[in-house]
Amino acid sequence: MTTSSESLAIVTGASTGMGAATARELARRGYHVLAGVRRERDGQSLLDAGVEPVILDITDPGHIAALTARVEQDPRPLRALINNAGIPGAGPIEVTPLDEWRRIFEVNLFGHVAVIQALLPALVRGRGRIVNITSLNGRLSMAGYGPYASSKFAMEAMSDALRNELAPHGVPVVVVEPGGVKTAMAGHGTARLSDLGARMSPEQNERYGDLVQALPSHVAAFTEAGNTAEEAARTIAKAATVRRPRTRYTIGTTAAFLIGVSRFLPDRLLDRMTTADLRKHYRPVR
Ligand SMILES: NC(=O)c1ccc[n+]([C@@H]2O[C@H](COP(=O)([O-])OP(=O)(O)OC[C@H]3O[C@@H](n4cnc5c(N)ncnc54)[C@H](OP(=O)(O)O)[C@@H]3O)[C@@H](O)[C@H]2O)c1
Repeated sequence: MTTSSESLAIVTGASTGMGAATARELARRGYHVLAGVRRERDGQSLLDAGVEPVILDITDPGHIAALTARVEQDPRPLRALINNAGIPGAGPIEVTPLDEWRRIFEVNLFGHVAVIQALLPALVRGRGRIVNITSLNGRLSMAGYGPYASSKFAMEAMSDALRNELAPHGVPVVVVEPGGVKTAMAGHGTARLSDLGARMSPEQNERYGDLVQALPSHVAAFTEAGNTAEEAARTIAKAATVRRPRTRYTIGTTAAFLIGVSRFLPDRLLDRMTTADLRKHYRPVR
């Protein structure tokens, strides 16, 4: 794979966090990066790094069509599509409204599928590759993480099918599975959870009150102990540019360890491990 501004790369969800850091890292490595942001003002700091911001909400067909047209009129080959955009979605299954489930899947799965469908002709022509950012929660689910983990498991399944479909056509599909990464995502999830908690009935509160109260602190501790967005971006950029990519990369030792053990530990033992970890964040008993 050539690494010069003769090549295009696209990063979705590049306003903050790993997406912004990956856009910068790929620009530093010589790519012309089209970085998806939802608001013009979020593109300003990327311009300084030599990145071209494009307005892209991955759930908006008009935005996707405009991005596709932008790529089609560019003579440079599209070498990498990094599907990074994502939203949090913690909450117990019973009390997470169906509309909320749909919104999470709309962004964390269907939006990526729509972007891939639109850009595949350009990727095949450019002998490019697809990098899908999933999560440790795409391989391991636990109490309180159901909606988010379901969307990330679905992204993993989609990626496995796509990898096999595109293998004969020269487009590698790579999955990157981050553990905790210090970004704004944890904070976004916390605001949602306090709304969810406030809407629970007394009976639901009896069942899930402790869990809903523990989740923000669990998420915060997990991400704070994690990697920086810049460290994560180096792994994502490697997955996007290395000559012979692996099918999967993890980010962080916790993700590598937990994904590794989840492949052979019995479910009940994994359940005990994840529950014990959550319980450290329950309110102290008075
Ligand atoms: N941080 C972690 O610990 C962690 C762990 C595992 C996996 N991940 C995954 O890593 C990816 C990046 O997350 P991050 O931690 O860097 O969080 P982040 O800073 O919150 O970044 C998420 C990005 O997605 C964008 N986005 C949200 N909805 C979108 C939509 N409908 N269309 C286009 N873009 C949209 C956001 O844009 P706005 O600013 O406009 O909202 C933002 O640029 C996500 O897929 C996330 O699930 C994160």
